[in-house]
Amino acid sequence: MTSIRRPTIGVFDSGVGGLTVLRALLDRIPNADYLYFGDTARLPYGSKSAATVAHYAVGAVNYLQDHGAELLVIACNTATALAFDEIKVGSRVEVVGVVEPGADAAAHASTNRRVIVIGTEATVASHAYRRALEARGITVREKACPLLVPLVEEGWTEHPVTEQVARIYLSEAFAEDARDADVLVLGCTHYPLLKPLLRRVAPDHVTIVDSAESTAHAVAGHLAIDPIHGPAEPERRSDSRLRFFATDSAEKFKKMGARFLGHPVEDVVHVDLKE
Ligand code: DGL
Repeated sequence: MTSIRRPTIGVFDSGVGGLTVLRALLDRIPNADYLYFGDTARLPYGSKSAATVAHYAVGAVNYLQDHGAELLVIACNTATALAFDEIKVGSRVEVVGVVEPGADAAAHASTNRRVIVIGTEATVASHAYRRALEARGITVREKACPLLVPLVEEGWTEHPVTEQVARIYLSEAFAEDARDADVLVLGCTHYPLLKPLLRRVAPDHVTIVDSAESTAHAVAGHLAIDPIHGPAEPERRSDSRLRFFATDSAEKFKKMGARFLGHPVEDVVHVDLKE
């Protein structure tokens, strides 16, 4: 367990999606400063190989450490699922990913020990969530939902097309022996924006576990501080210094990022990571 009085937390994602994790961190841990790295020039990670994702992720987290990150949060589910070990090996500071906290929360929430995880193709193919949940005695079905990321990026979080797509994915996920699964894990940075829609589409008895929320709690645990429960007041948030690094256009990051963070994104620096 790390105890840093006012920590600088580095948050890494393939793009803007990880701002949902930063948002949860700001709610729970407002007395910290944050550096956020979005690898927007090289996203999506969700359709890439483990070797490529590991190579990209290690470069990005090194950048965050070189700029003062004292603890790293791998907000990207795909990067956590495919490259967590490589990231940890190369890091000088403590690293928290999204899979273990999500699996913990799901295991707590499930009464019949059956859970469904949705994520990108790469996250699902890695079976990282399956391993984490089976280790906790849970039976798992994983379902790739590749169309949801572009629909969220399009801003179609309440669009009939997205609802139809989600209905198809979830009916396939909750079919046959997974019919009575009682927890749905949102195993992708973009899905928290779909929570109201997924709540409507998922069977009523299902609890939705947001791995962004679970990760913020885990980070508070690592810092040995009590997380704040419930949403933070806007004035409490203003205490944190936020700096953003993006590998594609800073302007584009600001524009798209505000939707994911829930408030304006400023102080964005364009970064060119050499191959
Ligand atoms: N950040 C990715 C994840 O959480 C989704 C976007 C991408 O594929 O790069 O899996």
